[in-house]
Amino acid sequence: MDKKLFQYSIDSAMELGRKVIPYGDVATYIPELAKADKHALGIAVQTRQGELYTAGDCSTRFTIQSISKVITLCVALEKCGYAAVLDKVGMEPSGEAFNSIVELDLNSNKPYNPMINSGALAIADLLIGKTNFTELMEISRRLMKDPDLRFDEKVYQSEMATCARNRAIGWLLKSKDIISNDVEEVLKLYTAMCSMGVTAVSLANLALILANGGVDPQNGEWLLSASTVKVVKTIMLTCGMYDGSGRFAVEVGFPTKSGVGGGLLSVVDKEMGIGIYGPSLDSKGNCIAGNVMLKYLSQTFNMHLFHS
Ligand code: DON
Repeated sequence: MDKKLFQYSIDSAMELGRKVIPYGDVATYIPELAKADKHALGIAVQTRQGELYTAGDCSTRFTIQSISKVITLCVALEKCGYAAVLDKVGMEPSGEAFNSIVELDLNSNKPYNPMINSGALAIADLLIGKTNFTELMEISRRLMKDPDLRFDEKVYQSEMATCARNRAIGWLLKSKDIISNDVEEVLKLYTAMCSMGVTAVSLANLALILANGGVDPQNGEWLLSASTVKVVKTIMLTCGMYDGSGRFAVEVGFPTKSGVGGGLLSVVDKEMGIGIYGPSLDSKGNCIAGNVMLKYLSQTFNMHLFHS
């Protein structure tokens, strides 16, 4: 690929993305997130050949939020195995918002998938006793090649003080015997994972490991098993953008996971990892500019999984 052309296209994607920022808004239901700069926007692309392309606010730290669900799912699959994970949580898109409670209450004896809050709380419960937050941070640092990855205490406290809805989901899971640990302990681990401070570059690094089947292409190190990565990428494709996942899969066509901190983690299989930061969100809680940018890059470079 021509490097100059690719950098030019990333810059063009940024310009397109900037145009839609005013139509979204920062998350306000976690008070600390409401302080984000709505107009911030950055992208990092890490290729298998070791090239890093960046534009805009690619070194700004923000909290990973729901993108941490990808990491906890990877760790749960590695430590507990596929059968134990699937015993706790399904793998069907819910068609509901990320913090929905209805489908769990009405239709199911387990959360629909690990990318929504109920599913991630069930996974956090599974991990208690097998790992802890300190180890999960260490694993995250390695997967994101980000030694400066840090815990954002302010965001953590802000969410713990206001997460009545997640607490309700936690108690509903408890009432259905889906979680066995103390609800508050499960909430703490889940919320701490959401409060890791990352950058677009950290996300691009993690996405590249996933794109490369769990192996760091720079040194050949196996960080995740191929079977774990296959499961995680598939669930990202079908459920990673919540009730926007179907349309995103059609129009962009590669596994992506969003977070309400404004992050997007995108896997262009066997080729590259993309990380985006833009805290202005659409109505489904996904980065509004990132959507436009990824669609543009996918079309320009034929990145859709089923491109013709
Ligand atoms: O549980 C929550 O509400 C947040 N910590 C994470 C939600 C989130 O990132 C949804 N993603 N778009």
